[in-house]
Amino acid sequence: MDTLIVCGSPRRDGNSAALARAIAEGLVSSGHSAELVFADEAVSSFLRDCRTCRRADGTCAIDDEYRAVFLDKLLPARGLILATPVYWYGMSAQTKAFFDRMFCYVAASYPASASVVEQLKGKRIGLALASEETFPTVGSGIVHQVQEYCRYTRGEFVGVVHGYGNARGEVARDPGDPLARARSFGARFFTERATDYQIDTPRAGRVWA
Ligand SMILES: Cc1cc2nc3c(=O)[nH]c(=O)nc-3n(C[C@H](O)[C@H](O)[C@H](O)COP(=O)(O)O)c2cc1C
Repeated sequence: MDTLIVCGSPRRDGNSAALARAIAEGLVSSGHSAELVFADEAVSSFLRDCRTCRRADGTCAIDDEYRAVFLDKLLPARGLILATPVYWYGMSAQTKAFFDRMFCYVAASYPASASVVEQLKGKRIGLALASEETFPTVGSGIVHQVQEYCRYTRGEFVGVVHGYGNARGEVARDPGDPLARARSFGARFFTERATDYQIDTPRAGRVWA
């Protein structure tokens, strides 16, 4: 599996899920494989205090599916795509908890943390957002957080697809056609680079060949 897509909405037929599925279609159309998981299937509990929660052998005692999703699906994947609704100008709590629970395996008190850190580094990261409001900065906090996550994990932030809608699946009626953009984003996910120049970066002067 090349790419893990994590949907942070509780609505299986919602807008984030529609964007996530369209990205998966695009990935598959370009010869890649993708798996969609809903964050709330994996995460049943917030992060706890590791000092009281960890088992004697250092493993995480929270008994849910997160361990399997994180260790067996996310770590081997080359790409991670987060599809989240905008909740209160941030990512959904489900999506945030998915990030927070990484700590159980990244922290030095987890016996295999060095290997986890190595595997978490360098992934391609994509973001899909669904929101009711169309104001340009409605998702900026989320974009910034994911950018910082990429900086921290030496990942590559490939891009963002934002669809507007409120009722379930309403992004399909967004005139900006975010589902088509999501398919295209998925298809180009492993080939596109988001360019990020310094003043002295050598470059051709044209963006497209
Ligand atoms: C708890 C909650 C908070 C929300 N906060 C915002 C918000 O701050 N800005 C916004 O544009 N939409 C907000 N919305 C609307 C959702 O972003 C919108 O309905 C989105 O399409 C839901 O995605 P989903 O279908 O994947 O669940 C909120 C919805 C809920 C349930």
